[in-house]
Order: sequence, then structure tokens, then C-alpha cells
Amino acid sequence: MRVIIVKNYEEMSKEAGKLVKELIIKKSNCILGLATGSTPIGLYKELIRMHKEEGLDFSKVITFNLDEYYGLSGDHPQSYRYFMDTNLFNEINIKKENTHVPDGKIPIDEIEEYCKKYEEMIKNLGGIDLQILGIGGDGHIGFNEPGSSIYSRTRLVALDEQTIKDNSRFFEKIEDVPKFALTMGVGTILEAREIILLANGSKKAEVVAKAIEGPITSQITASALQLHPKVTVILDEEASSHLRRKEYYKFAYEAEKKINFRIF
Ligand code: GLP
Repeated sequence: MRVIIVKNYEEMSKEAGKLVKELIIKKSNCILGLATGSTPIGLYKELIRMHKEEGLDFSKVITFNLDEYYGLSGDHPQSYRYFMDTNLFNEINIKKENTHVPDGKIPIDEIEEYCKKYEEMIKNLGGIDLQILGIGGDGHIGFNEPGSSIYSRTRLVALDEQTIKDNSRFFEKIEDVPKFALTMGVGTILEAREIILLANGSKKAEVVAKAIEGPITSQITASALQLHPKVTVILDEEASSHLRRKEYYKFAYEAEKKINFRIF
């Protein structure tokens, strides 16, 4: 695991932006796995800036989002489809038909088939080149709540009480937060060729330390990332404050810069 610790949220977003840009330049028709939440908003702003100021071209880029609230349609302001459209897609030259967010309105008896198709679509297009992740307060990636198998696939899940509480800040009242979601599984996420996990703020410090330095456990699904050979974790100082090996990560990052070679 490559752990990059930067000063603040802005630097975290810029650092992630550089990696995404590098990939798009190398492979203009790359497949990005995208996340929602407040964490990646700065990265999306940076990508918009790169598009507008540096001509970064998204015309061939394909995206797959991790998850969607079950029960919300794409035009609901709290849906993840709406989030992606307003925070990224509407501001860059991506083709809307190349953007995929699970459909939160799929009838219950079609869910299994739908989830299978979502995975097949990813596979048929060649697989995700780079997956962006945030981390939930309970250590989830996507909406893989504690207890999700490391082999789990795209499916319907019930949200954890803590997630409902955490995400209620975006809704008028806590009762409005959907209780279910569709999410890529941990197993699906681990199939991406490369992964970036972003976290900022002191509220995430404890769970980040558990995910990176604790045992691999289905109770903190982000810990499964330890099994992946190409993960870059980008943290601000606050989110890194509980890491035991913080000084080593800083040393290793400085060292790799000198030889211009990424060390995972
Ligand atoms: C939601 C999303 C996750 C995201 C998490 C953290 O639960 N499903 O993909 O990582 O929120 O959100 P935030 O970035 O707002 O802390």
C-alpha cells in the first residue's frame, strides 16, 4: 500500500487529480470507478479545472459509480446520479451514455439480474482501470457495511445505523434517508487494476488506521484493500493522525519521488 500524507483537503484532492489525469492521458478510453460523498468533491473540482484550463479530455472516458440509494430516482437531489451529474459530469465533456450509476428504482424482483448485468458491463468493457474510494465512518467502501464478505459482488444491502446517521446531514430529516442501497461488492472493487482511497479530517482518523494497519476483517470493509497490490491512500494530516507508521509512509513517499518510481 502506498500511503501519501498531505497537508490538507486541497492538496489531497490535487494529488488524486494528478493520478487521474496521468491515466486519462495514457489511456484516453480508460474506465474510472467513481465514488460519492463529500470526500471526492475536491477531486471532481480539480478534474473540472483540468478540463477547462488544461483541456483534459473526457470524451472517451467511461465511468461506473460504486453505489446508489435504493428507492431514489436519478433526478432526486440526494441520489448519487444527481450528485455525479452536478458535481462532475455536467461540467466536463464526458458522454452521458458513458456514465453508469446503479439505478435506484429497479424493481425488487429484477435486482439480482440487474446487478449481474452491471458487473458484466464492467467486465465486457475491459474492467475498471482506476477506482476512486472514500471511506465511511464505519469503515465501509461503497456501501459495503460491516459484515460484507470480501468476495461480495454488486447487490442490494441494508444500510447500517451509523451510515444512516452520518448521511442524514444531506437530508431534511433522518427518516428521509433510504434504508437500502445498491452497491458494488468488496470483491468487485478489488478487481479494479488500481485503487485510490481518499480520506480527510480527524473524524476519519481512527477508522483509517484500522483499515490500513489493522487486521483484514469484514467488520471494516476498507481493510480488504490490504489484499490489493496497487492501492494509493491519500490522506490529509488529520486523517493520518492515528497511523502508527506515519513517519515511514512519509519517508517512503519522499524516497520514491527522488527515483521517480511509484512504490506500493
Ligand atoms: C457514503 C458512500 C461512500 C462514501 C462515504 C463517505 O456512504 N456510499 O462511498 O465513501 O459515504 O462519505 P463522506 O466522503 O461524505 O465522508
